[in-house]
Amino acid sequence: MRNTVPGRRRSTATASLAALSALTLSLAACSGGSLSAADAGGDGEGDGLGTVKVGLAIPASGVYQPLGDDMQQGFDLYLDQHDGKLGGADVEVVVADEGEGPDTGVPAVNKLITQDQVGAIVGLVNSATALGVKDAVEQAQIPLLIANAGADQLTDGSDYIWRTSFTNGAVGAALGPAVAEAVDGPVYVMAADYAAGHESAAGFIEAFTAAGGEIAGESYTPFGSTSDWQPYLSQVQSSGASALYVFYAGAEAVNFVTQYDAFGLHDEVPLYGAGFLTEGGVLDAQGDAAVGVHTSLHYSDQIDTPENAEFVAAYRDAYDEAPTVYAVQAYDAAQVLDLAIAEAGSIDSTAIAEALGSVGEIASPRGGWTFDDLHNPSQTYFLREVQDVDGATVNAVQGDLG
Ligand code: BEZ
Repeated sequence: MRNTVPGRRRSTATASLAALSALTLSLAACSGGSLSAADAGGDGEGDGLGTVKVGLAIPASGVYQPLGDDMQQGFDLYLDQHDGKLGGADVEVVVADEGEGPDTGVPAVNKLITQDQVGAIVGLVNSATALGVKDAVEQAQIPLLIANAGADQLTDGSDYIWRTSFTNGAVGAALGPAVAEAVDGPVYVMAADYAAGHESAAGFIEAFTAAGGEIAGESYTPFGSTSDWQPYLSQVQSSGASALYVFYAGAEAVNFVTQYDAFGLHDEVPLYGAGFLTEGGVLDAQGDAAVGVHTSLHYSDQIDTPENAEFVAAYRDAYDEAPTVYAVQAYDAAQVLDLAIAEAGSIDSTAIAEALGSVGEIASPRGGWTFDDLHNPSQTYFLREVQDVDGATVNAVQGDLG
């Protein structure tokens, strides 16, 4: 069984990259932040391309910190498997703490752009943060590979903004018709009160009602500061809902699912949600409270393909735990950068951005995917059910949602 979120083992590779990142930051500080992507720490090796400086903007604090840990591990694993190079270039990773939201995340990304002068940025968990840095990234003409944040407006075909994850609306919409078919009666919708929660709910509601479903009510809970869901769960109960759809992730997902169970709704009002609700370390923390929860997502470590089996084995070997969607999204972002730098034959930011349009199909543990016209993955969503398998809870794959 996976380790729980606190105190998970970090690989030697992660530790050494963290040390390298710290060294990079102190070098940049000593030089007044004037290192360019081409010469920062460059040793002239790696096919003569120099060293590409990649900013990894992920939460190291706040409710989404476990997601950031997984993203770092996925990114590190890809580098470890490729001799620490991307597209033949040596790589220097500068880690920036995105924190919980824009107050911390926007300055962290601005620092990557102006002080660290990175050649590309990977990461961003929170949609509000990603929306807050979009313009700065475009103006600086630095390729940004969003490895989680799902805000629908983030991707519009901009040359510099690409996403290896999902759109919030698409994950919610994928589940709508399946819930309309499975549930006899109205469904209540509840979500974190910020861009991602609203978009997830809107995507679900549109697809669910188009398939004939009826909404019993909606509640949006203050993001990052809600600790007691009881008043909201009372509203669900008194609405007469036959089922509940929610968007929560990270620490909020743990608290919500355990309180939903303790409140006694588990057997009364079946729970559906965007798959972040039961993904990774949060599932261990939820324990039996999560059994029977159905979710939609574009990954499960239970996907039964040789490609995923190989990835799961490598990830377990490195970190002693199962991979998550967050790890896969960051792993794939490293792969996309690898292909783009190889295609560009250069670590120049503009050349990398231009080459991103030619990377073709990404061979991912989730299954092969390509970028669509807006620069989001064109991918399969899976229906998952939390099941107890030999004493451990897993997101068992029930089928494709298209
Ligand atoms: C978002 O802010 O877009 C987001 C955060 C966590 C999980 C999924 C989406």
